[in-house]
Amino acid sequence: MAKLKYQTPTGMHDVLPQDQIYFQKISKTIEKFFDFYGFERIDTPILESAELFNRSVGINTDIVEKEMYILKTREGKDPLALRPEGTAPIMRAYLEHGFNTYPQPVKLWYHGPFFRHERPQAGRYRQFWQFGCEVLGDKESIVDAQTIIIAYNILNDLGINNCLVRINSIGDENCRGEYRKALIKFLKSKKNSFCRDCTRRAKTNPLRVLDCKNEKCREVLNEAPQIVDYLCEDCKNHLKGVLEYLEELKIPFTLDPFLVRGLDYYTRTVFEIEAPINEEEGEGVLAGGGRYDILSKVLGKANIPACGFAAGIERIVTVMRARKVEGVYSSPSKVFISQIGPLAKKKGLAIFEELRKAGIKATESFSRDSLKAQLSKANKLNIHTVIIIGQKEALKDMVIIRDMETGKQSEVGIKDMVKEIKTRLR
Ligand code: HAM
Repeated sequence: MAKLKYQTPTGMHDVLPQDQIYFQKISKTIEKFFDFYGFERIDTPILESAELFNRSVGINTDIVEKEMYILKTREGKDPLALRPEGTAPIMRAYLEHGFNTYPQPVKLWYHGPFFRHERPQAGRYRQFWQFGCEVLGDKESIVDAQTIIIAYNILNDLGINNCLVRINSIGDENCRGEYRKALIKFLKSKKNSFCRDCTRRAKTNPLRVLDCKNEKCREVLNEAPQIVDYLCEDCKNHLKGVLEYLEELKIPFTLDPFLVRGLDYYTRTVFEIEAPINEEEGEGVLAGGGRYDILSKVLGKANIPACGFAAGIERIVTVMRARKVEGVYSSPSKVFISQIGPLAKKKGLAIFEELRKAGIKATESFSRDSLKAQLSKANKLNIHTVIIIGQKEALKDMVIIRDMETGKQSEVGIKDMVKEIKTRLR
């Protein structure tokens, strides 16, 4: 068959009804969780100033260097970007709307599509869905721990119950400089041992070398200095606090000295949560996040300490499917309306509306004319109560109610129909 001319753009996908049963389940679960934990929903625009991401995510990150969709505007003003992530827009909104004058912390959650021009592969899309939350205006380590706990518990509730949290601290403005120097020295001493990407990153964003997946690089990196050995007293205590809270709640975690994350705004805690799935099922990292105490300063305002996470919905759905977790199906219809003849069709349409107003879920097959075909559809849908309206009934403002199990039929006036059906459904 000839290839269709118009298809979804590379790396983008339709969320079809068979996917929606999982997307719906995730929506319902996160709404319940974020409400319980005292978060309020925020939606920011899909488009933001590209400069917002250049400054916050960082010009030497993959996202800004290679993955942003940039749009020129008709007015020729500063370019806009399809949002590649949600944290910078939320900090922008916090500052723009003066949320610093509200009781702190401000707790916000979000859910929507994001865009990164990545090389498409399993678990990596160019338009993907995330949900996430941000706690703004609080510097305490208990916030970091609770952020991790929320992400972990949501995944657990979605049937992904053996996740592992990897956690690290990447220090702050006080101590990261020292570490960076030590790391650069180490990278220089091994300069011929790394892949091309790492050699480039060693100059532009040395910390990112740490999370290279290339096996040869990994071997060399095992000897690299570790940031935990360079943390200042405050950062050390902060990390200790987070880990103690996690232990208290028995959240399984491992300290991963190579975890640095691909966004520049992080300070102190960074973490990722992964499900142990095999490679065929796609990327294992379901959620990632951390603390970003310097982001507000980068955007030109006084320090607003903050922490949050985001989770990738497609990746979660992949795991839910692999583990045969049930999605959310819409509730079945209770009543089937069948009609014979043009007048009955008109009355049938009005009856359908009446049932909707009465809160009785009904279905029909208005475009079919044969009663046999309509009853057979009701049978297929396993609906026991069928309303039949023909020309004769329509003229008398009556309907026939048929019990599909017993085959018994009785006539009632349209005005008493809802009451009669409610009694039968009880
Ligand atoms: P991130 O690690 O870039 O963090 O993305 C979070 C999650 O989104 C990932 O763990 C992954 O599940 C999913 N994800 C990312 N890129 C893709 C893609 N191309 N295709 C499919 N899924 C993807 C952030 O976005 C930060 N804003 C998280 C955060 C919130 N940090 C603090 N607060």
